[in-house]
Amino acid sequence: MSTIGIVGAGLMGHGIAYLLAAAGHTVRIYDPSAEWRNSLPQRLETARALLSGDPALMDRITAHDQMATAMKDVAFVFEAGPEKLPLKQQIFADLESVTAPATILCSNSSAIPTTEIGAGLKHRDRVVGTHFWNPPHLVPLVEVIQNDATSDETVRKTVDLLREAGREPVHVKKDIPGFIGNRLQHALKREAIALVAAGVCDAETIDTVCKTGFGARMAVLGPMEQSDLVGLNLTLDIQNVLLADLDNSTEPTDFLKEKVAAGKLGMSAGEGFRRWTKESADAVRERLRRYLADQAKAARK
Ligand SMILES: NC(=O)c1ccc[n+]([C@@H]2O[C@H](COP(=O)([O-])OP(=O)(O)OC[C@H]3O[C@@H](n4cnc5c(N)ncnc54)[C@H](O)[C@@H]3O)[C@@H](O)[C@H]2O)c1
Repeated sequence: MSTIGIVGAGLMGHGIAYLLAAAGHTVRIYDPSAEWRNSLPQRLETARALLSGDPALMDRITAHDQMATAMKDVAFVFEAGPEKLPLKQQIFADLESVTAPATILCSNSSAIPTTEIGAGLKHRDRVVGTHFWNPPHLVPLVEVIQNDATSDETVRKTVDLLREAGREPVHVKKDIPGFIGNRLQHALKREAIALVAAGVCDAETIDTVCKTGFGARMAVLGPMEQSDLVGLNLTLDIQNVLLADLDNSTEPTDFLKEKVAAGKLGMSAGEGFRRWTKESADAVRERLRRYLADQAKAARK
């Protein structure tokens, strides 16, 4: 088992810490904010209770206000600080000065390429993207993104660590915006928003079509397997008819921009694409939390 450092005790950092401690590792979290450090035990306990984890694993996680103490002799660091390039570059420069050259430095950035985050470092071969999905202790996928300087050994060791921790790591071979998951998700969202904006249907109908149609089978049948299942000739015939008609905008639609400008940001505002009460929004969050926890527990059996 390894000693692993986490930078940032926020939403993602605490979930990654829980996941790795549950896998048997010793985890040290660095966060300069006393507020985030103080709320950490309660948030970790919520994760543990949801997954019925062994209470002893909590003793393997400690919070630190000094990076050098937290990162002493760690094998890996998972950075989950704010999504700002200059800050991440500074964090990685600091990490380089307090870790050995062999320590693997992973960034959980959602969108910033590690090519840029690690640009000023001496040992860029050990810098790699690890894009977890929220909540990281419940959603299996981690995209492991190799940039031009990342060594194959760094990728292999990172994939092995994550797989042994019960994740489903995938190797992304180019450091491209959105990696794989968010590109697919936003290709779908672009079309969904365009359909609603064009008056084809309302937002609730989009959700129904996804959840009860192709989404109902998607957890067990990906789009490539599904194409092979029905036959690529059928996929080609459909694409010949359909592709020219799909939305191909290269910037967000006015429909989305106007919602945001009007403060219709979604559940927190009571309205986004759909209308929400506190109760209906809470019900969605609880449904998601339960579903993911049940899946995670079933995967452990
Ligand atoms: N929230 C998501 O759904 C999600 C999903 C995938 C990836 N990410 C990425 O993960 C990263 C963290 O996101 P989050 O949602 O956990 O954010 P968050 O705001 O919940 O947590 C950020 C943490 O970083 C700490 N921090 C601030 N300055 C710091 C510094 N100088 N050094 C170390 N820590 C510092 C904050 O105190 C806070 O605890 C971001 O890069 C984000 O893009 C987020």
